Amino acid sequence: CSSVTEPLRFDCYPERNVVVTQELCEARGCCFIERDQASGSRQGVPWCFYPPDFPSYVLESLNQTELGMVGLLRRKVKAYYPRDIETLQLSVEFETDTRLHIKITDSSSPRYEVPLQVPRAMKRAENPAYSLDFSREPFGLVLKRRASGVVLLNTTVAPLIFADQFLQISTTLPSTFLYGLGEHRSSFLHSLDWNTLTLWARDVPPTSYNLYGSHPFYLLMEEGGAAHGVFLLNSNAMEVALQPAPSLTWRTIGGILDFYIFLGPDPNMVIQQYQQVIGLPAMPPLWGLGFHLCRWGYGTSNETWQTVKAMRNYQIPQDAQWNDIDYMEGYRDFTFDPQAFSTLPQLVEDLHKHGQHYVMILDPGISSTNPRGSYWPFDEGLRRGIFINTTEGQPLIGQVWPGLTAFPDFSNQDTHQWWLENLKRFHAHVPFDGLWIDMNEPSDFMDGSVDGCPAGDLDKPPYVPGKKGQNASVHYNLHNLYGLMEAKATASALIQIRGKRPFVISRSTFPSQGRYSGHWLGDNRSEWKDMSWSVPGLLSFSLFGIPLVGADICGFSGTTSEELCTRWMQLGAFYPFARNHNTQNEKAQDPTVFSSEVRTAMKEVLLTRYTLLPFLYTLFHRAHLLGDTVMRPLFFEFPQDMVTYSIDRQFLWGESLLVTPVLEPGADSVIGYFPRGLWYDYYTVRSGAYWEVGPAPLDHINLHIREGAVLPTQKPETTSGASRGNPLRLVAALSPNAVAWGDLFWDDGESLDSFEKDNYSYLVFNVTQNVFTSTVLHANVEATYVTVDTLTVYGVRGPPTRVTINGEEHPFSYLDNQVSPALCVLHSQPHPCSPQAPL
Ligand code: NOJ
Repeated sequence: CSSVTEPLRFDCYPERNVVVTQELCEARGCCFIERDQASGSRQGVPWCFYPPDFPSYVLESLNQTELGMVGLLRRKVKAYYPRDIETLQLSVEFETDTRLHIKITDSSSPRYEVPLQVPRAMKRAENPAYSLDFSREPFGLVLKRRASGVVLLNTTVAPLIFADQFLQISTTLPSTFLYGLGEHRSSFLHSLDWNTLTLWARDVPPTSYNLYGSHPFYLLMEEGGAAHGVFLLNSNAMEVALQPAPSLTWRTIGGILDFYIFLGPDPNMVIQQYQQVIGLPAMPPLWGLGFHLCRWGYGTSNETWQTVKAMRNYQIPQDAQWNDIDYMEGYRDFTFDPQAFSTLPQLVEDLHKHGQHYVMILDPGISSTNPRGSYWPFDEGLRRGIFINTTEGQPLIGQVWPGLTAFPDFSNQDTHQWWLENLKRFHAHVPFDGLWIDMNEPSDFMDGSVDGCPAGDLDKPPYVPGKKGQNASVHYNLHNLYGLMEAKATASALIQIRGKRPFVISRSTFPSQGRYSGHWLGDNRSEWKDMSWSVPGLLSFSLFGIPLVGADICGFSGTTSEELCTRWMQLGAFYPFARNHNTQNEKAQDPTVFSSEVRTAMKEVLLTRYTLLPFLYTLFHRAHLLGDTVMRPLFFEFPQDMVTYSIDRQFLWGESLLVTPVLEPGADSVIGYFPRGLWYDYYTVRSGAYWEVGPAPLDHINLHIREGAVLPTQKPETTSGASRGNPLRLVAALSPNAVAWGDLFWDDGESLDSFEKDNYSYLVFNVTQNVFTSTVLHANVEATYVTVDTLTVYGVRGPPTRVTINGEEHPFSYLDNQVSPALCVLHSQPHPCSPQAPL
């Protein structure tokens, strides 16, 4: 036992509510060595761990198949969990050169598998980037990257366990640079210092681990800058134990072991390959990328309306107004309070008149206590049998905001139809544009149900993952999928009702969620640290294929301050999904309630966001088409630069816009990392490099444009609908050898499948050898009309003598600011480019 070094001790007794004694440990056939503090042994090292010869499975046979191979695994000695499965089937499919699919399941009877539509390979990969070897006894897999010989996975380090309600597999990792595995509040780069992450959707504020969604996917940076990803397609409660070997253990309490491995080799490619399996994200409507305002407790529709009017009055950009549960009557879905919200239909009509949109909340819990005949959603749901049942076949009754509630079973297509009909009926009165689906872990204020939790293995499983006890309910296998299935029903209903691109924001999420909804990070607090946690939180969702993400700007609970809210509005203006939201009984925190100085700063940064909407929209198109990330970690662009691996206080939009927010109180400057190359200050054109302290007065957020980029921008208006009518203003940031590239996807901003139906324009911009070219690769003039107003070129070498547009000489202006001169061309006259207003 003592020959097993500490980092390689794999926990043989992960149960949390048990004090592990030598006797208990040895009864499992494991080694027991108490932590020896004197010798500097680390906290977290398991006292009870597997000996090297702990019995595991033996690979009895391995046969070639068309796509890979199948094998049979047999365990001779029983493991210690009940209903241990003796023979397993191993199936390996070389699906593509960069994707490997490994499945281990019971060889004799079918087990639950996640009902996710995944692609099927037609032929075996011809030139795989990986090689796979097997250890026969004990069974194990060793996966290598061919190009470098790096071992990506080696599962021989600990025994495989496959019991009915306890499945465990461990592997070494080739480095400690591991990301993903949500949903948690943590640094973007995970600690491997005996860190166990639980994946089980639950309703808790993000003050700790194990939050609303479940994403069993990680990305790992190998030494040398290559990246790979691993996805365990399993929806049961699970945990992932990280330890400093470096190594990782997957522990799940149901389903099968169904792994996809993505070889990249660069991190962006890993995420693209992952999304080829889980599905590419939906293209949001353009208005979804505008600024959203919400709070719990406006109290009345007139109060909500006042806020909208105040925003308009100050000409602060706003695309959507939201309402929380206070619009409902008795917190019942598909109702609105006939007194307090009597003018809601008129408010929505007024929003529409002003080119704005309305989004309202829906919770899954359906009130079950109304007199028969008075609440159609419940009566009809009962009649159609669409609620989740107890084992006795009666609707399970729990408790949420409206009191006692039943929960729709979104795994049933009839429920989707019932949901649609409810939404249609409500839409006839309140023509909402988007939906916010909350509390869909699903959250239940009761422990199980009115009858508690029944006895039995599904509710009291032999192993319970997590730092906190969880009692799985009857939907043992499907729990983590609830938010996904509800989002699918909701997006589909919106399409049928409005005939336009759906806009859905969901609290609970699972892989493939991006196809139907975006996400926000839940109930953060109005504190500085919560603001900084939002950056790694959102970056993780970029890895999970959900690009439309944001956090409650200015903080949800607690009282925000003017300074915090200003900084948060500045950061939030660069969240892919930008919404200011606040809890009830707190002071209002929308931009209109602050001093004129702060209000102006907030307005300015929103105008900057609106200026950049054509660029942001194009990034979303690339996410939808290719699986590119929108909000991007720095190391995605600079995988060779290891300094970037731990950066989670700065981020990029796409390849080329670097955001360096202030995340501390009392600051008048901010330090940022500028990877190799020129970075032009967005406002002053000045270029900088490496770690730099930038001035950051309260009315300023540092933005830098990377050399070689052309950004399509637009003169901003106060709604995206109004902005989109303005001609483009192109900004080209030259690299030292005077080249730049950019693109623009543009359509009507809301039609369904505009790309798929060819109703869009796509333009590519190039600068090379003193010539700027714009090439229309696809045009649909009826759907999209694009004109260019100005072109500003950053980093020109010296004063140009002549500028021509399509051969004709043209006036221009030239700004010689010493550090980075700029050339500015207006379509009809010289464009006065001043350092303060380069656009
Ligand atoms: C919980 C949500 O996370 C929060 O955003 C919302 O305001 C409350 N539920 C009330 O609906």
